[in-house]
Amino acid sequence: MTDYRPETRTVHVPQVPVEGSHPITVPIYQTSGFVFDDPAVMADAMGSPSGPFVYGRYTNPTVRSLELAVAGLEGGAAAIATGSGMGAINTVLLGLLKPGDHLIAQRSLYGGTAAMISDLVGRFGIDVTYVPENDPAALRAARRPETKLVYLETISNPMTLVADLPAMCAAARELGLLTVVDNTFATALLCRPIEHGADIVVHSTTKYLSGHTDVVGGLAVFADTGLYERVWHFAIELGAAADPFAAWLVLRGLQTLALRMERHCANAEYLATRLAGHPAVTAVHWPGLPSHPSYELARKLLPGFGGVFSFDLAGGRAAGEHFMKSVRLALLAPSLGGVETLVLHPATTSHRSLTAEELAANGIGEGTVRIAVGIEHPEDLWADVSQALA
Ligand SMILES: Cc1ncc(COP(=O)(O)O)c(C=O)c1O
Repeated sequence: MTDYRPETRTVHVPQVPVEGSHPITVPIYQTSGFVFDDPAVMADAMGSPSGPFVYGRYTNPTVRSLELAVAGLEGGAAAIATGSGMGAINTVLLGLLKPGDHLIAQRSLYGGTAAMISDLVGRFGIDVTYVPENDPAALRAARRPETKLVYLETISNPMTLVADLPAMCAAARELGLLTVVDNTFATALLCRPIEHGADIVVHSTTKYLSGHTDVVGGLAVFADTGLYERVWHFAIELGAAADPFAAWLVLRGLQTLALRMERHCANAEYLATRLAGHPAVTAVHWPGLPSHPSYELARKLLPGFGGVFSFDLAGGRAAGEHFMKSVRLALLAPSLGGVETLVLHPATTSHRSLTAEELAANGIGEGTVRIAVGIEHPEDLWADVSQALA
């Protein structure tokens, strides 16, 4: 490089190979592409997910570390990291469905997923039938010759209904259908849907996997490589790839997932139990409470019941608004799964795309508040919640 003029030398800076040791943490490979010595190797790399790294929209060593980490945790063969949870869900559904196909989805879904499925129906000619998350007979009855897949959430948003994964995945498999499970609320620490027969697991890594409310990301894990390769080809066309820095933030958060999850679950149990006994609260929707419709199933399926729940206030919408204005420690904000406790009003925010009938069918009322319990001290959280209720 010393032969070149300064203008050229500022562009082509030296790269330091790391030899004889390696970094403790996964480095951020902040590059959009990779350099090849051999044009034939480069040409091959473009066509295969297992070849050398080639271009950032395909994957990247930092992104691949995240893909391998979560695929391993979920017991899958491979994963595709994306720029958001919706990016992962879109990549999977659009990668596997075509006009004329039919899918079966559980009725109680994250609002963004429900809105996306309505769009598939309205604009792409893909039809949907909604069934309860724990009813394999309804799944069998909904099956048509053109049905391709079943879509479930391990723990649903915001009513925390638990899907009967063993029964639903077995029914789907019998019928030759693929099962896709959104495992965002549970994470692989509370549930590994592939062990129950799921084919694909999707995550919003924005939530518990990253855990610090500082990144938006998503990921799809595939039980087998054939399915992964099929979707990988579509993923690079769709272009919903994860950015290396975002992937690095998720990887960093992942290292403390087990500790955080334990605390989220314990704090949620404490608050849900105390709220259930409060006179201003008519119902608490947390699957660890015996009053919850998923309680028995949750006890069989999950070692912990998650850190998110909803509760209904006796005073309806006005009480809900008053509560959200009155909390001081908990923050009125979208999202969940971070270290801070967040509250929101599902009917007007995360689930605003649902009609009044759909909200009612999902049990989401005007006075329903969702709380994503953080890892603060439980007594400080209860003091905040109880002063806001008062
Ligand atoms: C269960 C669930 N799945 C998917 C998503 C979408 O994730 P993202 O916001 O990262 O696109 C969310 C977002 O809240 C969610 O709660």
